[in-house]
Amino acid sequence: MTIDPKTLKLRKARALTLNGGGQEKIAAQRAKGRLTARERLEILLDKGSFRELDAFVTGRPGTVGANSLTDGVVTGWGTVDGRLVYVYSQDFSVLGGSLGEAHAGKIVKIQQMALKNGAPIIGINDSGGARIQEGIVALTGYSDIFLNNVLCSGVVPQLSAIMGPCAGGAVYSPALTDFIFMVKNTSYMFLTGPDVVKTVTHEDVTFEDLGGATVHNTKSGVAHFAADSEGDCLFLQRVLLSYLPSNNMEEPPFVKSKDDPLRMDESLDALVPDNANKPYDIKEAIRKITDDGQFFEIQEHFAQNVVVGFARLGGFSVGIVANQPQVLAGVLDINASEKAARFVRFCDSFNIPIITFEDVPGFLPGVGQEHGGIIRSGAKLLYAYCEATVPKICVITRKAYGGAYCVMSPRATRGDLTLAWPTAELAVMGPDGAVSVVNRREISAADNPAAKKVALANDYRDQVSNPYVAAARGYVDDIIEPRETRPRLINALEMLRNKRDSNPPRKHGNIPL
Ligand code: HXC
Repeated sequence: MTIDPKTLKLRKARALTLNGGGQEKIAAQRAKGRLTARERLEILLDKGSFRELDAFVTGRPGTVGANSLTDGVVTGWGTVDGRLVYVYSQDFSVLGGSLGEAHAGKIVKIQQMALKNGAPIIGINDSGGARIQEGIVALTGYSDIFLNNVLCSGVVPQLSAIMGPCAGGAVYSPALTDFIFMVKNTSYMFLTGPDVVKTVTHEDVTFEDLGGATVHNTKSGVAHFAADSEGDCLFLQRVLLSYLPSNNMEEPPFVKSKDDPLRMDESLDALVPDNANKPYDIKEAIRKITDDGQFFEIQEHFAQNVVVGFARLGGFSVGIVANQPQVLAGVLDINASEKAARFVRFCDSFNIPIITFEDVPGFLPGVGQEHGGIIRSGAKLLYAYCEATVPKICVITRKAYGGAYCVMSPRATRGDLTLAWPTAELAVMGPDGAVSVVNRREISAADNPAAKKVALANDYRDQVSNPYVAAARGYVDDIIEPRETRPRLINALEMLRNKRDSNPPRKHGNIPL
């Protein structure tokens, strides 16, 4: 069969676009242990679902990219588990994936389509940054993208994968999105690279130690996931999307599970140790309660004294925030407060109910924390919980002390339901601290001050800090057996299914940033 010349021309032109910056550059990309822009999209999206947009866009006439088809970024849409997503994937083989005017225009077009049509946007970043030859035009392109990141925020989920270099102001587009995924050893993010750091501060540091996946997942908290490979990174994005609605007007997907909603777990009754100073793993409780024991943790390696992530309960997608008694006794510090606050705000933006597991002895004391602004950071979490109008259910497993109690979603801050385990202790402070303040003279005058203190602390626990005192006032709605937590939570989610709540009309609140 003969093919007419126009079709042939189209096919040839299309084939050229698929060739990126040419085989040599693609080989160089592979040699760095990285996939190409198109291979990444193939892994991310459902098979055969990708539809490319603007494949024939070139750099602007008269610029270095004038002859480069795609101008260094592949854009379009496809599906993940059958649901629409918009994507862009920077192509390092074309001018180092650098961002010029046309490149930026393609990304902005995709952002605006995502916003208008209500579907998530996933950006795969692999770029030398602003195209140096295009100067201020390239910087303006970044500004356009940043603006659209902000306009999309809270309307459609925005995911960023960092799969190569991401330097200079370019980092601010991912930073404005909801979740950042990095790949160990092959991706990095920083404002100024090792050479500039050396000149300015005389510090010797490698790319990986300055802005690699491990650093941003453990120290800075900039990233949310550190994947072992590019394939793993793209797979994690698919999993995350399964918990999220496509936009802020939708409910999250309901995924029915074979796990019995009425299932009880007797082992939970013995999870909290008798000794209030002994740790236990709150993630064990979470996995025993959620559908099929699944918990998709976010920022697993950062501020581990608080645990956040997604799960399902009776098929409902939920966001879980939990103090982790195993790390720093579960105290709230600057990093933990900010991590949890951002997560709470994300859940609230996208109609995802929040389940809080509370075992918090208070805020971390110390000069470093005070001077670092723990007051402001704690206020962020407080603000986020107060502002949230999604269903909020709190399970107090043990300590609910002081200001941290007020922060962690009590009924008084519009919590919808507070359940306590019999091990719960609600008080201004722990029994030891309380009697040291209130009974100081009595203790020092006693024949055996240590024994006196223990006795008084036990009295305080019995009379003041036990959950029945809080339940008598209705601050705790019910005291439940730990084993029945799963059915009780699922029942509560059903009860709150049609919850409607709102905040006063205003331009926006002023969260303590
Ligand atoms: C134009 C660029 C480029 C850029 C890389 N290239 N970055 N072209 N503008 N920003 C080109 C290279 O010239 C080269 O072209 C090709 O891409 C591949 O780059 P290599 O250097 O060969 O790759 P590699 O050795 O892997 O090094 C990658 C790199 C390095 C570390 C990213 O290219 C680099 O340092 N680039 C400059 C990074 C930078 O300073 N960008 C500006 C950041 S500031 P040929 O033709 O030789 O193959 C910024 C401001 C944003 O982005 C502000 C927003 C508000």
